[in-house]
Amino acid sequence: MSSYPLKVWKTFRREQSEAPNSEEYQPLANDPSAPEPERTGADQQMPKPETRKGDLLAEWAAYVSTTIFLTTTWLMALNSSPSTPFTYHPIFQSLGVSSFAYGILTLQPTSRPRSKAEGLARHQLAMGFGLLCIILGTSAIVANKNINYSDHFVSAHAKLGLSSFVWILFQVIVGVGSVWFDGKLFGGGTKAKSIWKYHRLSGYILFPLLILTSSFGGWSQWAMNHSLFSTRIIAYTLSPFILLISVLFRIRPSKMRFFTTFDSFS
Ligand code: HEM
Repeated sequence: MSSYPLKVWKTFRREQSEAPNSEEYQPLANDPSAPEPERTGADQQMPKPETRKGDLLAEWAAYVSTTIFLTTTWLMALNSSPSTPFTYHPIFQSLGVSSFAYGILTLQPTSRPRSKAEGLARHQLAMGFGLLCIILGTSAIVANKNINYSDHFVSAHAKLGLSSFVWILFQVIVGVGSVWFDGKLFGGGTKAKSIWKYHRLSGYILFPLLILTSSFGGWSQWAMNHSLFSTRIIAYTLSPFILLISVLFRIRPSKMRFFTTFDSFS
Protein backbone atom coordinates (compact mmCIF):
# COMPACT_ATOMS: atom_id res chain seq x y z
CA MET A 1 0.00 0.00 0.00
CA SER A 2 1.30 3.48 -0.80
CA SER A 3 2.63 5.44 2.17
CA TYR A 4 2.26 8.80 0.38
CA PRO A 5 -0.93 9.95 2.20
CA LEU A 6 0.74 9.02 5.50
CA LYS A 7 3.81 11.10 4.58
CA VAL A 8 1.65 14.10 3.68
CA TRP A 9 -0.25 13.77 6.95
CA LYS A 10 3.03 13.56 8.94
CA THR A 11 4.36 16.68 7.19
CA PHE A 12 1.10 18.47 7.93
CA ARG A 13 1.31 17.50 11.65
CA ARG A 14 4.98 18.51 11.84
CA GLU A 15 4.24 21.91 10.28
CA GLN A 16 1.44 22.41 12.76
CA SER A 17 3.52 21.52 15.81
CA GLU A 18 6.55 23.55 14.73
CA ALA A 19 4.54 26.49 13.56
CA PRO A 20 4.36 28.79 16.59
CA ASN A 21 8.14 28.84 16.97
CA SER A 22 9.05 28.84 13.34
CA GLU A 23 9.91 31.87 11.23
CA GLU A 24 6.76 31.29 9.27
CA TYR A 25 4.91 32.73 12.23
CA GLN A 26 6.87 35.88 12.71
CA PRO A 27 4.73 38.96 12.20
CA LEU A 28 4.91 40.42 8.74
CA ALA A 29 7.05 43.47 8.28
CA ASN A 30 5.19 45.62 5.77
CA ASP A 31 8.39 47.43 4.83
CA PRO A 32 10.45 45.41 2.30
CA SER A 33 13.57 47.39 3.18
CA ALA A 34 13.37 46.33 6.85
CA PRO A 35 16.53 44.48 7.96
CA GLU A 36 16.36 40.72 8.49
CA PRO A 37 16.34 39.84 12.20
CA GLU A 38 19.62 38.37 13.43
CA ARG A 39 19.91 34.62 13.11
CA THR A 40 21.26 32.54 15.94
CA GLY A 41 22.78 29.07 16.52
CA ALA A 42 22.31 26.40 13.87
CA ASP A 43 19.99 28.67 11.95
CA GLN A 44 22.87 31.09 11.39
CA GLN A 45 24.88 28.43 9.57
CA MET A 46 22.04 26.90 7.64
CA PRO A 47 18.88 29.01 7.42
CA LYS A 48 15.73 26.96 6.97
CA PRO A 49 14.80 26.86 3.26
CA GLU A 50 11.54 28.53 2.30
CA THR A 51 10.65 26.05 -0.41
CA ARG A 52 9.70 22.42 -0.02
CA LYS A 53 10.52 19.56 -2.34
CA GLY A 54 8.51 19.96 -5.54
CA ASP A 55 7.68 23.64 -4.99
CA LEU A 56 9.93 24.84 -7.80
CA LEU A 57 8.61 22.26 -10.25
CA ALA A 58 5.05 23.24 -9.33
CA GLU A 59 5.92 26.90 -9.85
CA TRP A 60 7.30 26.22 -13.34
CA ALA A 61 4.34 24.03 -14.22
CA ALA A 62 2.06 26.89 -13.16
CA TYR A 63 3.94 29.45 -15.27
CA VAL A 64 4.03 27.22 -18.37
CA SER A 65 0.32 26.37 -18.16
CA THR A 66 -0.60 30.03 -17.55
CA THR A 67 1.46 31.08 -20.59
CA ILE A 68 -0.30 28.49 -22.78
CA PHE A 69 -3.73 29.65 -21.58
CA LEU A 70 -2.87 33.34 -22.01
CA THR A 71 -1.20 33.18 -25.42
CA THR A 72 -3.87 30.90 -26.89
CA THR A 73 -6.60 33.28 -25.74
CA TRP A 74 -4.81 36.35 -27.06
CA LEU A 75 -4.06 34.73 -30.43
CA MET A 76 -7.70 33.69 -30.80
CA ALA A 77 -9.00 37.13 -29.80
CA LEU A 78 -6.58 39.07 -31.99
CA ASN A 79 -7.27 36.82 -34.99
CA SER A 80 -11.04 37.03 -34.67
CA SER A 81 -12.61 39.67 -36.82
CA PRO A 82 -14.39 42.02 -36.75
CA SER A 83 -13.00 43.75 -33.72
CA THR A 84 -15.89 44.56 -31.34
CA PRO A 85 -15.94 45.38 -27.61
CA PHE A 86 -16.16 41.60 -27.14
CA THR A 87 -12.53 41.20 -28.27
CA TYR A 88 -11.40 42.96 -25.11
CA HIS A 89 -13.26 40.46 -22.91
CA PRO A 90 -11.05 37.37 -23.42
CA ILE A 91 -7.96 39.61 -23.70
CA PHE A 92 -8.43 41.31 -20.35
CA GLN A 93 -9.97 38.38 -18.47
CA SER A 94 -7.13 36.02 -19.38
CA LEU A 95 -4.56 38.68 -18.48
CA GLY A 96 -6.34 39.29 -15.17
CA VAL A 97 -6.48 35.60 -14.26
CA SER A 98 -2.78 35.19 -15.18
CA SER A 99 -1.89 38.16 -13.02
CA PHE A 100 -3.84 36.67 -10.10
CA ALA A 101 -1.96 33.38 -10.59
CA TYR A 102 1.35 35.24 -10.36
CA GLY A 103 0.14 37.18 -7.33
CA ILE A 104 -0.57 33.93 -5.48
CA LEU A 105 2.58 32.10 -6.61
CA THR A 106 4.84 34.95 -5.58
CA LEU A 107 3.60 34.95 -2.01
CA GLN A 108 3.24 31.22 -1.41
CA PRO A 109 6.70 30.07 -0.37
CA THR A 110 7.68 33.15 1.65
CA SER A 111 8.26 32.66 5.35
CA ARG A 112 11.01 35.08 6.40
CA PRO A 113 10.11 38.63 7.39
CA ARG A 114 11.86 40.35 4.49
CA SER A 115 10.79 37.92 1.77
CA LYS A 116 7.25 38.06 3.17
CA ALA A 117 7.23 41.85 2.92
CA GLU A 118 8.67 41.77 -0.61
CA GLY A 119 6.18 39.07 -1.56
CA LEU A 120 3.34 41.14 -0.17
CA ALA A 121 4.43 44.16 -2.25
CA ARG A 122 4.47 42.01 -5.43
CA HIS A 123 1.15 40.41 -4.42
CA GLN A 124 -0.54 43.81 -4.13
CA LEU A 125 0.80 44.99 -7.49
CA ALA A 126 -0.24 41.79 -9.28
CA MET A 127 -3.68 41.71 -7.65
CA GLY A 128 -4.26 45.42 -8.34
CA PHE A 129 -3.32 44.96 -12.00
CA GLY A 130 -5.47 41.80 -12.20
CA LEU A 131 -8.45 43.64 -10.71
CA LEU A 132 -8.11 46.44 -13.26
CA CYS A 133 -8.04 43.86 -16.10
CA ILE A 134 -11.12 42.03 -14.75
CA ILE A 135 -13.05 45.32 -14.44
CA LEU A 136 -12.14 46.24 -18.05
CA GLY A 137 -12.87 42.73 -19.38
CA THR A 138 -16.22 42.46 -17.62
CA SER A 139 -17.24 45.96 -18.75
CA ALA A 140 -16.35 44.97 -22.33
CA ILE A 141 -18.65 41.94 -22.40
CA VAL A 142 -21.52 43.77 -20.68
CA ALA A 143 -21.17 46.67 -23.15
CA ASN A 144 -21.04 44.23 -26.05
CA LYS A 145 -24.23 42.54 -24.88
CA ASN A 146 -25.97 45.90 -24.46
CA ILE A 147 -24.99 46.95 -28.00
CA ASN A 148 -26.47 43.72 -29.36
CA TYR A 149 -29.54 43.79 -27.10
CA SER A 150 -28.62 40.32 -25.80
CA ASP A 151 -29.73 38.93 -22.44
CA HIS A 152 -27.24 39.12 -19.62
CA PHE A 153 -25.93 36.32 -17.42
CA VAL A 154 -27.65 33.46 -19.20
CA SER A 155 -24.94 30.82 -19.76
CA ALA A 156 -23.12 28.88 -17.03
CA HIS A 157 -19.94 30.81 -17.89
CA ALA A 158 -21.74 34.14 -17.53
CA LYS A 159 -23.22 33.15 -14.15
CA LEU A 160 -19.87 31.86 -12.89
CA GLY A 161 -18.26 35.04 -14.24
CA LEU A 162 -20.66 37.29 -12.38
CA SER A 163 -20.15 35.34 -9.12
CA SER A 164 -16.36 35.49 -9.58
CA PHE A 165 -16.50 39.22 -10.26
CA VAL A 166 -18.46 39.97 -7.08
CA TRP A 167 -16.22 37.65 -5.04
CA ILE A 168 -13.08 39.35 -6.42
CA LEU A 169 -14.36 42.73 -5.23
CA PHE A 170 -15.05 41.29 -1.78
CA GLN A 171 -11.62 39.59 -1.71
CA VAL A 172 -9.84 42.82 -2.63
CA ILE A 173 -11.75 44.88 -0.05
CA VAL A 174 -10.79 42.41 2.71
CA GLY A 175 -7.15 42.26 1.52
CA VAL A 176 -6.74 46.01 1.21
CA GLY A 177 -8.69 46.73 4.39
CA SER A 178 -6.51 44.40 6.46
CA VAL A 179 -3.18 45.77 5.15
CA TRP A 180 -3.50 49.43 4.16
CA PHE A 181 -3.32 52.02 6.95
CA ASP A 182 -2.20 49.23 9.30
CA GLY A 183 -5.48 47.40 8.69
CA LYS A 184 -7.56 50.16 10.28
CA LEU A 185 -10.72 48.88 8.60
CA PHE A 186 -10.50 45.70 10.71
CA GLY A 187 -9.35 47.18 13.99
CA GLY A 188 -5.66 47.60 13.06
CA GLY A 189 -2.49 45.67 14.09
CA THR A 190 -2.86 42.06 15.20
CA LYS A 191 -6.65 42.20 14.99
CA ALA A 192 -6.46 43.07 11.29
CA LYS A 193 -3.76 40.46 10.68
CA SER A 194 -6.00 37.76 12.16
CA ILE A 195 -8.22 38.31 9.10
CA TRP A 196 -5.44 37.18 6.74
CA LYS A 197 -6.05 33.47 7.11
CA TYR A 198 -9.68 33.98 6.04
CA HIS A 199 -8.54 36.11 3.11
CA ARG A 200 -6.15 33.28 2.20
CA LEU A 201 -8.83 30.57 2.46
CA SER A 202 -11.30 32.66 0.49
CA GLY A 203 -8.63 33.21 -2.18
CA TYR A 204 -8.00 29.48 -2.46
CA ILE A 205 -11.71 28.92 -3.12
CA LEU A 206 -12.04 31.89 -5.46
CA PHE A 207 -9.04 30.95 -7.61
CA PRO A 208 -10.44 27.53 -8.68
CA LEU A 209 -13.74 29.30 -9.44
CA LEU A 210 -11.88 31.75 -11.68
CA ILE A 211 -10.07 28.91 -13.42
CA LEU A 212 -13.35 27.08 -13.96
CA THR A 213 -14.95 30.27 -15.34
CA SER A 214 -12.07 30.77 -17.78
CA SER A 215 -12.23 27.13 -18.78
CA PHE A 216 -15.94 27.48 -19.58
CA GLY A 217 -15.13 30.64 -21.56
CA GLY A 218 -12.59 28.62 -23.51
CA TRP A 219 -15.28 26.09 -24.41
CA SER A 220 -17.88 28.73 -25.34
CA GLN A 221 -19.36 28.94 -28.84
CA TRP A 222 -17.03 31.84 -29.65
CA ALA A 223 -13.96 29.78 -28.69
CA MET A 224 -15.27 26.77 -30.63
CA ASN A 225 -15.55 28.97 -33.72
CA HIS A 226 -11.98 30.17 -33.40
CA SER A 227 -9.95 27.14 -32.32
CA LEU A 228 -9.31 23.47 -32.90
CA PHE A 229 -10.61 20.86 -30.49
CA SER A 230 -7.04 19.86 -29.59
CA THR A 231 -6.15 23.51 -28.86
CA ARG A 232 -9.06 23.82 -26.45
CA ILE A 233 -8.12 20.55 -24.73
CA ILE A 234 -4.60 21.89 -24.13
CA ALA A 235 -5.40 25.54 -23.36
CA TYR A 236 -8.73 25.28 -21.55
CA THR A 237 -8.72 21.83 -19.94
CA LEU A 238 -5.16 20.58 -19.38
CA SER A 239 -3.50 23.94 -18.68
CA PRO A 240 -6.12 25.16 -16.17
CA PHE A 241 -5.98 21.77 -14.45
CA ILE A 242 -2.16 21.84 -14.18
CA LEU A 243 -2.26 25.45 -12.95
CA LEU A 244 -4.78 24.56 -10.28
CA ILE A 245 -2.90 21.48 -9.07
CA SER A 246 0.38 23.45 -8.99
CA VAL A 247 -1.08 26.28 -6.92
CA LEU A 248 -2.79 23.86 -4.51
CA PHE A 249 0.42 21.84 -4.16
CA ARG A 250 2.25 24.93 -2.89
CA ILE A 251 -0.27 25.69 -0.12
CA ARG A 252 1.14 25.69 3.41
CA PRO A 253 -1.54 24.11 5.62
CA SER A 254 0.20 25.62 8.64
CA LYS A 255 -0.73 29.09 7.40
CA MET A 256 -4.41 28.30 7.69
CA ARG A 257 -4.96 27.00 11.17
CA PHE A 258 -8.51 27.87 12.06
CA PHE A 259 -8.91 25.95 15.29
CA THR A 260 -6.21 27.52 17.44
CA THR A 261 -5.99 30.91 19.05
CA PHE A 262 -2.64 31.55 17.36
CA ASP A 263 -2.87 33.55 14.16
CA SER A 264 -0.39 33.10 11.34
CA PHE A 265 0.86 35.95 9.25
CA SER A 266 1.46 35.75 5.54
C1 HEM B 1 -10.31 32.82 -21.47
C2 HEM B 1 -11.13 33.48 -20.77
C3 HEM B 1 -12.55 33.83 -21.16
C4 HEM B 1 -13.21 33.69 -22.38
C5 HEM B 1 -12.68 33.11 -23.67
C6 HEM B 1 -14.55 34.18 -22.18
C7 HEM B 1 -15.56 34.20 -23.15
C8 HEM B 1 -16.85 34.68 -22.96
C9 HEM B 1 -17.91 34.64 -23.91
C10 HEM B 1 -17.81 34.01 -25.29
C11 HEM B 1 -19.00 35.22 -23.37
C12 HEM B 1 -20.38 35.45 -24.05
C13 HEM B 1 -21.28 34.30 -23.86
C14 HEM B 1 -21.96 34.28 -22.52
O1 HEM B 1 -22.70 35.19 -22.18
O2 HEM B 1 -21.74 33.31 -21.80
C15 HEM B 1 -18.65 35.62 -22.03
C16 HEM B 1 -19.50 36.23 -21.13
C17 HEM B 1 -19.18 36.59 -19.84
N1 HEM B 1 -17.96 36.40 -19.23
FE1 HEM B 1 -16.34 35.54 -20.07
N2 HEM B 1 -14.66 34.63 -20.89
C18 HEM B 1 -13.47 34.42 -20.24
C19 HEM B 1 -13.16 34.69 -18.92
C20 HEM B 1 -14.02 35.29 -18.01
C21 HEM B 1 -13.73 35.54 -16.63
C22 HEM B 1 -12.42 35.17 -15.93
C23 HEM B 1 -14.82 36.19 -16.09
C24 HEM B 1 -15.05 36.72 -14.71
C25 HEM B 1 -14.17 37.07 -13.84
C26 HEM B 1 -15.80 36.29 -17.14
C27 HEM B 1 -17.04 36.88 -17.00
C28 HEM B 1 -18.04 36.90 -17.94
C29 HEM B 1 -19.37 37.45 -17.72
C30 HEM B 1 -19.89 38.09 -16.44
C31 HEM B 1 -20.07 37.25 -18.92
C32 HEM B 1 -21.54 37.59 -19.19
C33 HEM B 1 -21.81 39.06 -19.33
C34 HEM B 1 -23.28 39.31 -19.55
O3 HEM B 1 -24.06 38.38 -19.63
O4 HEM B 1 -23.63 40.50 -19.63
N3 HEM B 1 -15.28 35.73 -18.30
N4 HEM B 1 -17.33 35.28 -21.82
